[in-house]
Amino acid sequence: MPSITSITGRVCYNSRGQETVEIDVMTDQKYLGRTCAPSGASVGKYEVVNFPKNKVDHALQMLNSNINKFIGLEASDTETIFDTLRTIDDTSDYSKVGGAIAYALSIAAVDSAAKALNVPMLKVLKKNGIYRFPIPLGNVLGGGAHAGPGTPDIQEFLVVPIGAKSINEALRMNFEVHRELKNVIEHKDKEFTYGRGDEGAWAPKMNDVEALDAVEKACNNCGFKIDKDIAMGVDFATSSLWDENSKSYVYIRSGRKFTSARQIEFVSNVIKDYKLIYAEDPVHEEAFEDMAELTKRFRNVYVTGDDLLVTNVERLEKAKKYNACNAAILKVNQAGSLHDAMDFSKKANENNIRLITSHRSGESIDTHLVHIAIATNSKMIKSGVLGGERISKLNEMLRLSETGLMDGMAEV
Ligand code: PGA
Ligand code: ZN
Repeated sequence: MPSITSITGRVCYNSRGQETVEIDVMTDQKYLGRTCAPSGASVGKYEVVNFPKNKVDHALQMLNSNINKFIGLEASDTETIFDTLRTIDDTSDYSKVGGAIAYALSIAAVDSAAKALNVPMLKVLKKNGIYRFPIPLGNVLGGGAHAGPGTPDIQEFLVVPIGAKSINEALRMNFEVHRELKNVIEHKDKEFTYGRGDEGAWAPKMNDVEALDAVEKACNNCGFKIDKDIAMGVDFATSSLWDENSKSYVYIRSGRKFTSARQIEFVSNVIKDYKLIYAEDPVHEEAFEDMAELTKRFRNVYVTGDDLLVTNVERLEKAKKYNACNAAILKVNQAGSLHDAMDFSKKANENNIRLITSHRSGESIDTHLVHIAIATNSKMIKSGVLGGERISKLNEMLRLSETGLMDGMAEV
């Protein structure tokens, strides 16, 4: 079994040009695993701390003074790596070592184990069984924390190629809608600059309803039947809109202010009017009861918790008690180490909470996300449509389709 022989950490940059850490884990002195930690812009209140004291250097110092503890460990053993991390940092939010170190170290270890064993990383995480491609969610239009003034208040307008028979077809459909959407936006706004947000989604001057209409029109123009070939989804990311003082959702760009009850009605209408299959964080991260109301109303929709759950087992248990959601985002760096995230995925699957493995808005060109999505039986994957750091993941799925390992698309 491959064992860790050296570890090196360095400062690197993510797709937003922000400092982050990258870690190299070497096994048996020759197999290199390498992972760069991503970071979010609309970060949930209960996510682990990315860098201790907000300093990348601090995180690297913590790593460097503890490297010896990891030398000799079995690289594919995510649990032992987690236990060892916990001897350095026993806080619940990784505030001593930082979630970025926990993330990069634990994934780089499995990456190097996969290379030593000469298997794709997903085989290390899930030794056998059926491997299916998650449906790629295409973030085609965006606003909120991912784009500038004038864009929609809502963060992500997504398409879901539910009718695709293969990963290749699914990706082609997403690219086609993204391309056509540019024409639709340009037709409406002659001064459209082709600007895109952090995840490559178009960032036009539009309000939320205009954005929904534009995405719907682009799907229709492509000849896709909504609800049959393709469906629409939205990441409302409402924790960024919620104002605790006035206890309301403040849509700054469009000048609206909604009570909790009004928000539920607004979301319900959007779901019905646009036949959404997917609604992420439609209410804010503390609103378990409001989430439960939407889950009750829309049993066939993926009512998904991102900031609500932050890939945290205790938050998942709370959500289960309330019946607050029927789907969960899995972001490893919200939880810290890969073991934390795998534990979350196990509990979600046991409780019939469907998983959507997700990138962050500040990403690297790493492709581990795809392997984690497949190994956790995720129904969908969020990894954007355009931009090198998004394309790298999409292309990895195409490579995996050549391996003979994969058994079609996940059923939604
Ligand atoms: P983030 O956004 O990576 O900026 O947190 C992604 C999301 O909210 O799903
Ligand atoms: Zn989200």
